[in-house]
Order: sequence, then C-alpha cells, then structure tokens
Amino acid sequence: MQKPAPTQHPIHDLHRQRWSPRAFSQEPVPEDILRSLFEAARWAPSSSNEQPWAFLVARREDQENHVRMLSTLVEFNQAWAKHAPVLAIAVSELAFERTGKPNRNAFYDTGAAVANLSMEATSRGLFVHQMAGFDPHKAIELYEIPNGWEPIAAFVVGYPGDPESLPDTLRERELAPRERKPLASFVMEGHWGKTASFIRK
Ligand SMILES: Cc1cc2nc3c(=O)[nH]c(=O)nc-3n(C[C@H](O)[C@H](O)[C@H](O)COP(=O)(O)O)c2cc1C
Repeated sequence: MQKPAPTQHPIHDLHRQRWSPRAFSQEPVPEDILRSLFEAARWAPSSSNEQPWAFLVARREDQENHVRMLSTLVEFNQAWAKHAPVLAIAVSELAFERTGKPNRNAFYDTGAAVANLSMEATSRGLFVHQMAGFDPHKAIELYEIPNGWEPIAAFVVGYPGDPESLPDTLRERELAPRERKPLASFVMEGHWGKTASFIRK
C-alpha cells in the first residue's frame, strides 16, 4: 500500500514514499538485499566516527530466533510484527571505545543508522517499522547483550502486505491520513520560539 506524505514543500520521492505500515507480506527478504540495508546503516555519520551501533536480526527462516525476538515485543506490536519476515533490534554502545567516556550521541547516531537503513529499504520497495514497544531487559537476557551496550529500538523489515489482513483497529490506523506538525512550529531562527523567516514566507 502506498501512503505518500502530503508535504508542504517538495522533497525527494524516497522521503515521500517511506512510511511505517503494520501489514506485511510474508515474502522473505533476499540475503543480498539485507546486506545492502545494513551496508547503508554502516555508512551513517556518527560522532567521532564511533559507529556506536550493533544490530541483532531474526529472520523467519530461523523460526526459533524469530519467535525469540518476537517475544521481546509488547503484545500490541507482536500482533502485527509476527507476520514480518525480518525482525531486528538496534543496540548502542554507551561509551567511546578509545576513551571509555560516555558517548552522549550514541542513541542519536544509532537512530541515524536506522534512518539510513530505512531509506535504503524504501528504495528497494521494502518498508521498515520501528518500535519502542519492546522489553530491553528481556532482549539483554535472551541475547546476552554485554554490559555497556543498550537495546534502543526494535524494528521489522518486509514487503508491504494487505491492510485487509489486519484486525479492525489496526486497519483503521493503517488507512488513516498521515500527519505532521507544521514546519513553522519547529524551525526557529535567532531566538527559541521564533519561527525562521524563510519558513514564514
Ligand atoms: C523510535 C520509534 C519508536 C516507535 N515505536 C512504535 C511502536 O512501538 N509501535 C508501533 O506500532 N509504531 C511505532 N513507531 C512508529 C511511529 O508510530 C511512526 O513512525 C509515526 O507514527 C509516523 O508514521 P510514519 O512512520 O508512517 O511516517 C515508532 C517509531 C519510532 C521512530
């Protein structure tokens, strides 16, 4: 299903086409495409080029791992994410490798890596749906994530499915119009709260 962003200004078509569906087809994602998605994540910018991210992946082909990762999601997310062929958890390293000092941009950089991956996915007809609704403690336990690393967000990757396959409440959300705050509310210039003049035009 397509759900292009109703933008206020022109943007690249990839940004218009990316969205977060909950209906996924069970079609597997080929391994070479998965490699490209994580390659795109690899080339994200990061503070001091620290690349403070790691990804745990579970493909449906490995049923045991897929079920295990699904069990870290909250029930609401499990209900739709179970159909997606690829599940993943993005993990951040909290301190700089060289100095051991806290890296206050680790989450930010990990988000940038997932953004890169999402856009690469969009360019290949795939969709990514990220989830804060998962249990990081369970993920640490099940995957023996070492100290100093923190699971940040889970996500699924897959080809779009039929919204009709979703339960009623989720189908409504799937078909609802996309919404964003206006640019004028968050692009400021000169002083906090003062909308940038190039936006007001
Ligand atoms: C960090 C993060 C956490 C999210 N958590 C969830 C979640 O737990 N469950 C869910 O259904 N959607 C989740 N979403 C999806 C957002 O609701 C969605 O991105 C937002 O409504 C904007 O819609 P769009 O991605 O289709 O443009 C999350 C997105 C992000 C980036």
